[in-house]
Amino acid sequence: MKTDTSSLEIIKSTTSKLDQTKLDKLVFGEIFTDHMLECDYENGKWKTPKIKPYGPIELMPSAKVFHYGQAVFEGMKAFKDEDDKIWLFRPEENFKRINVSGARLAIPEFPKDYFFNGLEELLKIDKEWIQKGFGNSLYIRPFVIATEECVSAAPSTKYKFMIICSPAQAYYSGEVRVKFSETFSRAADGGVGYAKAAGNYAAQFHPTNLAKEEGFQQIVWTDANTHEYLEEAGTMNIFFRVGDKLLTAPTSDRILDGVTRKSIITLAEEFNIPVEVRKVSVKEIVEAARKGELKEMFGAGTAAVINPIVGFGHKGEKFELPKLEDTYASFFKDKLMKIQYNQAEDKYGWRYEVKQ
Ligand code: COI
Repeated sequence: MKTDTSSLEIIKSTTSKLDQTKLDKLVFGEIFTDHMLECDYENGKWKTPKIKPYGPIELMPSAKVFHYGQAVFEGMKAFKDEDDKIWLFRPEENFKRINVSGARLAIPEFPKDYFFNGLEELLKIDKEWIQKGFGNSLYIRPFVIATEECVSAAPSTKYKFMIICSPAQAYYSGEVRVKFSETFSRAADGGVGYAKAAGNYAAQFHPTNLAKEEGFQQIVWTDANTHEYLEEAGTMNIFFRVGDKLLTAPTSDRILDGVTRKSIITLAEEFNIPVEVRKVSVKEIVEAARKGELKEMFGAGTAAVINPIVGFGHKGEKFELPKLEDTYASFFKDKLMKIQYNQAEDKYGWRYEVKQ
């Protein structure tokens, strides 16, 4: 079935994979819904976006994304409440950020009405894929790639913006231990660390593989100049609880301005949990761990939500964190998820209903 409107073209799939898909015990990011959104940029403008059946796209081997990694992405989630209403969490932040990331990679700005109309229409069409229940969500992956068929090292004149959606549960399946980076760096001053540039993630794979061989699931990146300050974990921003104080690094051009991160800071202030947004040194965290004052570490991100970290490694030494009954991680996760799933008051206007 093909529907044409002036701002969106819709071609619906005649079949659905939903019946043959197991939605319990999902591995993150492996399964995709029946439809996707696609919008091409050519001759200086974005063309009419299309929703069509999820499937392969055709690109020339010379497309710039393959050679220069000119690509950015976002991560968002849709939640379904007990009345089948669909909610997004602070989607405006993701819309703004994909254009902030894009600007850094010389990618033209994507229009707001295309983003929201396209996304909402896509969610309505694939709404059966959004499962109810705490912990179930639909992970939404908007992204932009450079498609011009030309290998000169200059910004592409053609792009493709897409949104694909994947039913999701937990991002990490087991306990998470992290290694504090001593040599490798994720980002540098004046670089692209704050952007969700595809290459920021690829560059972490090799060091993370090495850390995995030592028994860690993730790396906590330290500042590139001195490796003395803890910055972010790559798939998550990172928080430390020393005594009853919560610490996290300030955002900068090296650190992603995470939506979950800033929501936690707001919630901490609301619930009178002392929170310090400042440089956090490796030294103070190691010392706090030695003295038994490091109570918790957790990562925060859209995909991972709030993920406790049970131990860390630094310069060959391994530290385990205490197993507490009442953790800040579970407190914030509960507060945040209740807002996301429409089970608590939304004081800050973070929830966004996808009208059906
Ligand atoms: C997200 O949390 O949405 C992210 O972008 C992390 C991703 C690499 C899974």
